[in-house]
Amino acid sequence: MYRTHTCGELRIADVGKEVTLAGWVQAGRDFGGLTFVDVRDRYGITQIVFNMEDNAVLCEQARKLGREFVIQVSGKVRERSAKNPNRATGAIEIEATALHLLNPSKVPPFTIEDDTDGGDDLRMKYRYLDLRRTPVQQNIIFRARMGLETRKYLSDHGFLEIETPFLIKSTPEGARDFVVPSRLNPNQFYALPQSPQTFKQILMVAGFDRYFQIVKCFRDEDLRADRQPEFTQIDCEMAFVTREDILNTFEGLTKHLYREVLGIELDTFPRMSYDDAIAKYGSDKPDTRFGMEFVELNDVAQNQGFPVFDSAELVVGICAPGIADTYSNKDINALTDWVKRPQIGAKGLVYIKYQGDGSIKSSIGKFYTDEQLQAWGERFGARPGDLVLILAGEAEKTRTQLGALRLELGERLGLRDPKKVNPLWVVDFPLLEWDEEAQRFFAMHHPFTSPKKDDIERMQNGDFATMKSLRADAYDLVLNGVEIGGGSIRIHNRNLQSKNFDLLGFTKEEAEAQFGFLLGAFEYGAPPHGGIAFGFDRLCAVMNGQSSIRDFIAFPKNNMGRDMMIEAPSPIDQKQLDELSLRLVK
Ligand code: AMO
Repeated sequence: MYRTHTCGELRIADVGKEVTLAGWVQAGRDFGGLTFVDVRDRYGITQIVFNMEDNAVLCEQARKLGREFVIQVSGKVRERSAKNPNRATGAIEIEATALHLLNPSKVPPFTIEDDTDGGDDLRMKYRYLDLRRTPVQQNIIFRARMGLETRKYLSDHGFLEIETPFLIKSTPEGARDFVVPSRLNPNQFYALPQSPQTFKQILMVAGFDRYFQIVKCFRDEDLRADRQPEFTQIDCEMAFVTREDILNTFEGLTKHLYREVLGIELDTFPRMSYDDAIAKYGSDKPDTRFGMEFVELNDVAQNQGFPVFDSAELVVGICAPGIADTYSNKDINALTDWVKRPQIGAKGLVYIKYQGDGSIKSSIGKFYTDEQLQAWGERFGARPGDLVLILAGEAEKTRTQLGALRLELGERLGLRDPKKVNPLWVVDFPLLEWDEEAQRFFAMHHPFTSPKKDDIERMQNGDFATMKSLRADAYDLVLNGVEIGGGSIRIHNRNLQSKNFDLLGFTKEEAEAQFGFLLGAFEYGAPPHGGIAFGFDRLCAVMNGQSSIRDFIAFPKNNMGRDMMIEAPSPIDQKQLDELSLRLVK
């Protein structure tokens, strides 16, 4: 037997037991007569003592151990005189009687500690060492529990886990595809799935009723902290359901995961329409952990002689609590520069300080009386000490810009409390989104999403404005301002699906070539159906109050989509290229 116990297991009740542990050397301390070695595995760390007087040879051996050496050590559990309350095994230590070096280690390129000195690139190259660090290991263990609890909940609710293929057909909608050349079919390519969307719908046509899969998806898009080129979804589909059934089932899943994995009970999730989310927060994924809701001012701010407001489609502001007296002109200038950066793109920033002493100070004092600004303040619910910030311009852009400013201020003022859990269903998304550059409509969710029942009629014969106003039976789950998942009731009628492809600018031939199999399936008794997919990596990160999903993926890619450990992507040799009928361009 390699070990009788793990390194996180022994307690005061085990004192006197003869034990054998195996693990990695975390640290060694040599005090002449006594040598201490901390040995670590994924369960914890246990202190081993080597006593020169009792066994000089063994003590000499222990002194030579380096960091990350793999050892097996036997001895007797005894109570420690100086206990370590920060460690689960901190009340005991092992008096060593035998030591075996199982494998030495080179000196690791960074410290295997909670706060390591290794930079991102180095840690990704030596991912196996990074994964030894407790916080990273805890994240991976957390993820495994989440997967297990997801499977439990969904199985208990009658869902079947069914695998769908990874080598599928490229489609132009959505993000870019990763493609795979086919050796047996020269000049033809598979695509890796961006999601199992069409397959899960086909499974509904096939009668499987309730499907789920914890599944890898692949999207060739620009990467950010919350995006990886390959990521995992909890993907689901249900037949004979309404939106309510789907929302209830997945609200239930989210609550189950919080309860079982974190011990947190969540209340009923609030809901908000897409239109309200945009009007109040300038975002379809609002962080509702704090207020600072938008207040529109067109009716009071326009036609008073201030050209910037007069020429704007929208004048809108937020009220930042308690910073009127502490934010100096310099701070406000810095904030103005912040909103003017190309990433945000605002032209300027108007402020009104409702100062602690009751006076008002504003960058637009020339155009408006104190009485007017006082009345605006009431609309914001501003109290003495609050700072109102206003943007003006084209409506959609201005809302997005103010949304970004709201989040930035929320961050600076510490209002985005990582301990809070604020879930939100955003519902009734637009069906279509106009792309100015491409001069065509795109599906806001995807081309299989059903319009709301009331809008099906309008969709049949609508003009441009009607098309823009169509609502979809689509919904997103947002947690603390992060889009965790999205889904919709699907179209299950062949003619309606054809009509939708039509609106999206597909010719009949294109629709047939790309989605003929689905249209065909809809001719053989497709049941009404709908579904949703959660981003599993994102859910894990958000439940831990973190924004980067990389730390919850055992082997993530960097921002260039590279795996630094195995050095992928990489060139392939000429023979492989020839087999695949591929030629490299210089
Ligand atoms: P959607 O495209 O909204 O829907 O994706 C669902 C969820 O997957 C997560 N996600 C990502 N996570 C990490 N990296 C990425 N690159 C990435 N892209 C998406 C998000 C997102 O909310 N087939 C539909 C679902 C359906 O209609 O049932 C779909 O894929 O958390």
